[in-house]
Amino acid sequence: MLTEFWAEALRVHWGIEAELEPLDGEYDLNFLARARNGRDYVLKVMRPECEAELVEMQVAALDHIAEVAPGLPFPKVFAALDGAMLPEIPDEAGAPRRVWLLERLPGRCYALSLPHSEELILKLGRVLGATDRALEGFAHDGLARDFKWNLVQAGWIDRHLDAITDPVRRVMLSDIAAEFSGVHDRLAALPIQAIHNDVNDYNILVEGGLNETRKVSGLIDLGDMCAAPRVCDLAIAGAYVVLDHPRPERALAALVRGYHAANRLSAEEVDLIWPLLRMRLAVSVVNSTLMAAENPDDPYVTISQAPAWRFLENASVNGGLMAARLRVACGLPVTAGAERVQAYLDAHRGRFAQMFGTDLSAVPMGSLSVENSTWPQNPFHMPLDEAARVGEEFGTGLWLGYYNEPRLIYAEPGFRKGPWKASDRRTVHLAVDVFAPAGTILHAPLSGRVEVVENRTGHLDYGGVVILHHETPQGDAFYTLYGHLDPEVCDRLKPGDPVAQDAGFARLGDASQNGGWAPHVHFQLALTTQGMEADWPGVGDPDEMDLWHAVCPNPAALLNLPDDKVFYRPTDKAAVLAGRRAHFGGNLSLTYDDPVMLVRGWKHHLFDEWGRPYLDAYNNVPNVGHAHPRIQAVAADQLKRMNSNTRYLHPAQLAFAEKVLSKLPERFEVCFFVNSGTEANELALRLARAHTGNIGMVTPDHGYHGNTTGAIAISAYKFNKPGGVGQADWVELVEVADDYRGRFKRDDAERARKFADLVDPAIARLQDKGHGVAGFIAETFPSVGGQIIPPKGYLAAVYDKIRAAGGVCIADEVQTGLGRLGDYYFGFEHQGAEPDIVVMGKPIGNGHPLGVLVTTREIAHSFNNGIEFFSTFGGSTLSCRIGKEVLDIVDDEGLQENARLMGARLMNGLRALEGEFGCVGDVRGMGLFLGVELINPDGSEGTEICRYVKNRMRDHRILIGSEGPKDNILKIRPPLTIEAEDVDMILWALRTVLTEVGDWAPAPVCDHDHHHAGCGCC
Ligand SMILES: Cc1ncc(COP(=O)(O)O)c(C=O)c1O
Repeated sequence: MLTEFWAEALRVHWGIEAELEPLDGEYDLNFLARARNGRDYVLKVMRPECEAELVEMQVAALDHIAEVAPGLPFPKVFAALDGAMLPEIPDEAGAPRRVWLLERLPGRCYALSLPHSEELILKLGRVLGATDRALEGFAHDGLARDFKWNLVQAGWIDRHLDAITDPVRRVMLSDIAAEFSGVHDRLAALPIQAIHNDVNDYNILVEGGLNETRKVSGLIDLGDMCAAPRVCDLAIAGAYVVLDHPRPERALAALVRGYHAANRLSAEEVDLIWPLLRMRLAVSVVNSTLMAAENPDDPYVTISQAPAWRFLENASVNGGLMAARLRVACGLPVTAGAERVQAYLDAHRGRFAQMFGTDLSAVPMGSLSVENSTWPQNPFHMPLDEAARVGEEFGTGLWLGYYNEPRLIYAEPGFRKGPWKASDRRTVHLAVDVFAPAGTILHAPLSGRVEVVENRTGHLDYGGVVILHHETPQGDAFYTLYGHLDPEVCDRLKPGDPVAQDAGFARLGDASQNGGWAPHVHFQLALTTQGMEADWPGVGDPDEMDLWHAVCPNPAALLNLPDDKVFYRPTDKAAVLAGRRAHFGGNLSLTYDDPVMLVRGWKHHLFDEWGRPYLDAYNNVPNVGHAHPRIQAVAADQLKRMNSNTRYLHPAQLAFAEKVLSKLPERFEVCFFVNSGTEANELALRLARAHTGNIGMVTPDHGYHGNTTGAIAISAYKFNKPGGVGQADWVELVEVADDYRGRFKRDDAERARKFADLVDPAIARLQDKGHGVAGFIAETFPSVGGQIIPPKGYLAAVYDKIRAAGGVCIADEVQTGLGRLGDYYFGFEHQGAEPDIVVMGKPIGNGHPLGVLVTTREIAHSFNNGIEFFSTFGGSTLSCRIGKEVLDIVDDEGLQENARLMGARLMNGLRALEGEFGCVGDVRGMGLFLGVELINPDGSEGTEICRYVKNRMRDHRILIGSEGPKDNILKIRPPLTIEAEDVDMILWALRTVLTEVGDWAPAPVCDHDHHHAGCGCC
């Protein structure tokens, strides 16, 4: 056996006893050696005909790195017993083989270690930069080799472009090759040094568990080393980092930033990265095409080039802007003259011609920011009539709009960077706006010549637009853009025309001429137009502002204004977080490792202070959607009139009560209005006790009913937590009817009855203690317990037993009521059970604090014992109008039916994921009340997986929750307005994130209470 043969060689030559396992290798034999000493090695047996010099070079390089930069993650080489690093050992057939033994580094290869976060890529850049620094002083004869992977010599592909049969692709490659040849002289002039030359995604190792910070734990395989400019090493690594990356430009910028931090690059080198990267990909696809021709039966050759083609053909990557982006990543000026232009503008601030013929320093600012403004009401649609009125609250005189201001007025899909409504979108204004009446003349702040003059007639585009080219006295170019002009300017000016300082060269258009907006000029400055040409983005992605601040800086100087006046600063999330810590209790918890700050909403979407959209798949309170216009209207209308309490008659209270009761079985006749679910449950306890004269309560484990003393006492989810108040004497818990993890499973047809029977001993215990049974309370479908749907008939059976013991049955429908379940308006309908008291909360006010309890005439009568029941705000005129409106909207907009349809769509998709991913243990729920139970490979609760998935979904801009005693159940519970494309986004993102989880398993936890030999942990 081969492995035994080489295991013996390892023992003889290195004195190491190990078990060998073959590893992949194209030509050579590679083994993983697990040694008796507990260490792992890699044994490399080179092919007989290998070039010894190249192997010696690798060994020498590793030795060099270990000496000059021992902190770098390269494997150490272990000398054989006789001191040789690369002994020659005869193989089984007696042929001499060069053999070497390496340290085995921890981690898994980068290709399989998803996601490729910018943070990880930045670290990779640092490691690579440091590696090239370490290799600077390394010399070896083998480095000076001619071969196809030396990027300096990549011009060889020119001769083989004919092999690319697709003419479009051939032209693209020939363009890349031409661009490469255009920079070749600059490349060839750079100093050369030893470089790794093949930092591909299988040669990078990454370490770090699911919720841990990941780091680069290894760079391996120096087999392609050569002498070349260091920037080739970076471009090659970049060529792999961008492939199939969801944000390739940002990924590359992160790599370059990391590299530059460890190994300073010049601007000239930075400018070479992009053409070199593309050339490297061109070399790859040409090489694979040639190999495919030689090996027509090997489909892998073609498959392996697919990502490179995908990237090269990705039209959304803006190559023209790449040099600026990479320079900014390194903190370098975007152009050679950028700093001089900025200095010139600064020095002349106050001396430019007045654009509006008047001093703007006292002109007021008007904010259209996400936080300060509600233009447009629907952040996904800007109707023309709203666009024409934008900012009308600031009057019809002169006012200024901010630079760097995130706005939601850019609502068209063209501003989105992905296919979904909640995809990243460009929101941040890169110009200053000056609002003034249509027809106002615009004066050139300084002389220039016309670069572009056009009429952009698209919906909400610029209308008339002019770009002027300027030069500083030192000859450095910069540009200014004026949008939303009267298009008559196109008749008067043409590209190349001079425009004198202070010349009135254009005038503001009205809404019919300027793209549809309230009259204003969008005034933008740019230091380069490369990658933008005539089509400058007027707004930027909030996560790319470093780039945009550098390319399109604040133009305040040209308006003779201080920068600060027009520079918008959104509320600082970190300051809010610090303030919260200072003024609120520590147990006021925040969701997510990196919390979100949300300032606007619309239906089932939310927006943070930068206008980043989030799909709200978690919050059930906005039952009919965030910021519903009918709720706004009803609340505003009532607040204009009066708002008082139930001590006075008002028809709104009756209307609300009648609406609520219309949704319930006839026996429910009486409503109590309070302010919250908690208060309603607290009241339910009092009613049950008043009606029965008993105090004992039975309730399922892990339930939650509210935050007051009484409600906590019946909420095992709280009182049983470490530090909780513990179980009261008058409360008895029963196991949740969870037929996935509980004691009776889905294959047991009798499980509903068996779970219900668990109530019998609880009743008996209460009676034994003398408390009697006041009642039973349960979330109809346990939510905090893990989105559980009890087997049909469970509640009906429990209710029979409780009633037989003299108690009343309380259905907490706070989570499940009001149409969320699709097939049912309330959860108890599914169970074929009729409670005595129904509690509603959260969604019934759609954000307004409101709780409702309904019960029978008899129970209400028992409670009417002469003491007034009063809740100051419960049943206020305002609350009743809002509550009624919410229920009306559910009906009018068919939201229960929508919950049924969208729930089914989600459920189907989730079931498919369950079949695809081992970590999805169970998918359950009804309508838009859904749970996904995540499990470890051994079937135990996947708490860490759940935390990871929840946080990663947030990275994908989707809010979902987690629940269950071990917090391993994803809770999906969106507003009832969710639409098919949102459901599809959830499923797409979940699949992406679950792929990242892959076959992750938690490290085994030692539960030994005594020393256990062989277990590394005790
Ligand atoms: C099932 C259930 N009941 C009662 C409550 C308490 O409602 P509130 O927070 O409005 O007091 C909650 C809150 O999460 C709940 O989920």
